[in-house]
Amino acid sequence: MVQAHYLAGLDLRGRRVVVVGGGSVAQRRIPNLVAAGADVHVIAIDPTPTVESEPAITVHQRAYAEGDLDGAWYAIACTDDPDVNAAVVAEATEARVFCVRADDGKAGTAVTPASGHHRDLQFGVLAGGDHRRSAAVRAAITAAFADGSSLTVTESVSHAPGVALVGGGPGAADLITVRGRRLLAEADVVVADRLAPVSLLDELGPQVELIDAAKVPYGRAMRQEKINEILVARAKAGKFVVRLKGGDPYVYGRGFEELQACVDAGVPVTVVPGVTSPISAPELAGIPVTHRGVAHEFVVVSGHVAPDHPDSLTDWSALARLRGTIVLMMAVKRIDAFAQALLDGGRPGATPVAFIENASRPDQRLIRADLADAARVAGEQNLIAPAIAVIGPVAGFTDADRAVPL
Ligand SMILES: C[S@@+](CC[C@H](N)C(=O)[O-])C[C@H]1O[C@@H](n2cnc3c(N)ncnc32)[C@H](O)[C@@H]1O
Repeated sequence: MVQAHYLAGLDLRGRRVVVVGGGSVAQRRIPNLVAAGADVHVIAIDPTPTVESEPAITVHQRAYAEGDLDGAWYAIACTDDPDVNAAVVAEATEARVFCVRADDGKAGTAVTPASGHHRDLQFGVLAGGDHRRSAAVRAAITAAFADGSSLTVTESVSHAPGVALVGGGPGAADLITVRGRRLLAEADVVVADRLAPVSLLDELGPQVELIDAAKVPYGRAMRQEKINEILVARAKAGKFVVRLKGGDPYVYGRGFEELQACVDAGVPVTVVPGVTSPISAPELAGIPVTHRGVAHEFVVVSGHVAPDHPDSLTDWSALARLRGTIVLMMAVKRIDAFAQALLDGGRPGATPVAFIENASRPDQRLIRADLADAARVAGEQNLIAPAIAVIGPVAGFTDADRAVPL
């Protein structure tokens, strides 16, 4: 029969909590005690640097002495000396202060649950002292809350009206952030881009309105003004709108325009950063955009206009003089013009080039070339969007080929 405990939530605001011991257990417990507003006193001969420098607590750098629990509401005995821990529990019991004993849970008068939170919800799991089991259950609950589909089953959450501009990552469903996925699960309306992780849309409940804002290059597109109008109108109608984008909303994502439209209309708006493709696409293909002693800068450049176009804001001759990494986006159609501009500006023809197409998707492809033949290779290999071009010595690395896959 496992030991039964009575689960309670302690109001520790402004109340003295004494932690005897300043090692890894203390380091793990202190953040939640501080978050609960406790007046935390740590007594430890040799606290870890993190404990020692925690500004919201009082550290007494000395050995425990009887009387240290005076005025305490709660105590944790977590030194590496069992005799000291036993003495702390004895004092606590005498004073009727609940006390956790880290090295021998059954010898204390309280145990710490594996705890977690989701929004304003807190939960704790006890498994009769089986910490691995309670931690595993905690992890499962946390994942269930982070995972939209489970969340809608376990708790019906309604979000305040407004707009969240959510970066969805490069395309794989599990490269969106936990925050992004949670907000997606709470959406009344989802306005999705073509490059967003569209497989997640399958998990939306039937009540969720899905609006396709796909901007197909050189194809059908919803005008940006129309997207802005939809975001504002739905939010004003009391809906929580998730604007789901590929990569990061602020990297060639027009996210800031959408934010401004919301701000101008007085609509509450938040931005959730995303894993952006100019860094993640090369990375997923085994190419680091920087490497010590090889590339001290990386520059991300949009290829949506040609180098000689009057709207171009890019100084291609300055780019050509760089020795580090150039990451070209939206450049498939005009790769010949960009390669030529760099060659004309003096970048050597032998500079390695890597194209990463459909990064993080099942059909991801890595194509290698050098600057002099990049356009020819891209044509021969029938390179298609979405793709990233990496130009510079790092594009010659072959880590993906060498690494042992997990
Ligand atoms: C309009 S931009 C949007 C970028 C996005 N906001 C980001 O942070 O990744 C579209 C370009 O991103 C790049 N891109 C996006 N997803 C990609 C992927 N999965 N693989 C390769 N390139 C990608 C391509 O260069 C594509 O033309």
